[in-house]
Amino acid sequence: MKPYKVPAILASEITPKQLFYARRKFMRSVGGATLAALLPQALWAASPFSDIKKSTFSATEELTPLKAITSYNNFYEFGTGKEDPAARAGSLKTRPWTISVEGEANKPKVFDIDEILKMAPLEERIYRLRCVEAWSMVVPWVGFPLAELLKRVEPTGNAKYVEFVSLYDPGQMPGQKSSVLDWPYREGLRMDEAMHPLTLLTLGLYGEVLPNQNGAPVRVVMPWKYGFKSAKSIVAIRLMEKQPTTSWMKAGPNEYGFYANVNPEVDHPRWSQAKERRIGEFLKRKTLMFNGYAEEVASLYAGMDLQRYF
Ligand code: MTE
Repeated sequence: MKPYKVPAILASEITPKQLFYARRKFMRSVGGATLAALLPQALWAASPFSDIKKSTFSATEELTPLKAITSYNNFYEFGTGKEDPAARAGSLKTRPWTISVEGEANKPKVFDIDEILKMAPLEERIYRLRCVEAWSMVVPWVGFPLAELLKRVEPTGNAKYVEFVSLYDPGQMPGQKSSVLDWPYREGLRMDEAMHPLTLLTLGLYGEVLPNQNGAPVRVVMPWKYGFKSAKSIVAIRLMEKQPTTSWMKAGPNEYGFYANVNPEVDHPRWSQAKERRIGEFLKRKTLMFNGYAEEVASLYAGMDLQRYF
């Protein structure tokens, strides 16, 4: 991955968040029956969330506009360019979809995505997302803690790590015809990180289901880690005794570590991590330790050498 370059999005193309929410309010007030008559099936099906709680974990910063969140993406299964996922991810079929939660578990299970959608109360979590390439966004995700899913399979005492596996299907994901990464995309966490209340199993953003380019139908988000940890379009979660090797560790073991905690004091070998560019802003801002979530997560790493375990 490369450091940040200014994206080619005009301010005039951006939907202000007030306008976005006003539109949603209007759609709700028009009423289900009328809407169903007016909208094509695909669009109507895109709004399954009726009740979303606000979360106390939310950041209070200004949201990044929806347009930027959905048009400036990293999703190498659809190409390495930032505009590729928005242009090409339309080919991804998100139904039927299952996630197999397997490995070190007493009750491993294949969950249907529609079962997962109803598994726990949905929350809106406004999180800062800091990419390793030194840009950042503020995103109103919709989801629930990953722990809710993991506890249903009853992890065994040997479950020390989890591995996330994204979909492998070169027919739908043209970027997989290139060997830029070792497919399928794999990421991982230590078990205590996976069970941490900030780790979000994510199903939507801005009150709607995830757009394909953001990892539909389900991804994870860990706001204190670099964005590459948050695997998209997940089909399996494996509970493991040994630390898994992730796709980015294979691609560049000196550049992308297993922990990948946001840390302004540990530079990437090819660029500094001290500052970041918030998408839509001109001046860089200082990167915060653990992306500003130190109070919640620093204790997970007490006594660890964060230069070594980067
Ligand atoms: N997941 C998969 N399967 N493939 C990817 O290429 N890119 C990662 C992460 N998850 C990626 C992925 C990177 S580098 C980042 S920064 C975030 O997704 C970007 O998420 P966003 O496009 O929703 O902002």
